[in-house]
Amino acid sequence: MKDTASPDEILFITGNKHKYGEVLPIADELGFKVIMKPGYKLEIQSNSLEEISLTAALEAYKYLKKPLMVEDAGLFINALNDFPGPYSSYVFKTLGCSGILKLMSGITIRNAIFRSVVTLIYPPFLIIEQGECPGTIAGEKRGEKGFGFDPIFIPEGDNRTFAEMSIEEKNLYSHRAKAVRNALQKLKKLLEKTSDINLNAP
Ligand code: IMP
Repeated sequence: MKDTASPDEILFITGNKHKYGEVLPIADELGFKVIMKPGYKLEIQSNSLEEISLTAALEAYKYLKKPLMVEDAGLFINALNDFPGPYSSYVFKTLGCSGILKLMSGITIRNAIFRSVVTLIYPPFLIIEQGECPGTIAGEKRGEKGFGFDPIFIPEGDNRTFAEMSIEEKNLYSHRAKAVRNALQKLKKLLEKTSDINLNAP
């Protein structure tokens, strides 16, 4: 047994309560305890969500030395050459949903995709998993739930925006739900396979 955390406890490095709310039911379902840990997510500038997610996870691990997970996401809009992509956080703060709707005015092909990359450090394992959610950009903001670009994103297979859905409904489609589920399922399998070997032994 590790002295730093109980075997199933994983710190989720984020200050975003909405993200935490989305991740909790998935972790619960798979038998992991995930605890929100704000204040440790280093945000580097990069074109790659993988690099952003991995760098933030390694950096947080340097300080915390406990099992942890970082998730980084972005909205990639076809008609805008994948803008805002990895710059979604900055673009949300500066332009917001209204700014994106303005950039999209007159554009009829409104396909977009949300991408998420999860890096999970659970020594001796390091797991990187992705999740994608294709959809379209709505003509106007709809709904009060969620965060970020939720009011303007309609996932494929539904006609409501993410902001019109409960967490459970959003999790049926979302990039984050897929990436987190993939990562935790992979960890679960690895822990089951290696439960009889001491991987930390010299
Ligand atoms: P982050 O760097 O992973 O926090 O995500 C960058 C930005 O993308 C956030 O600030 C949000 O504006 C947006 N974003 C990421 N995931 C979602 C989501 O599930 N719904 C709506 N907006 C999101």
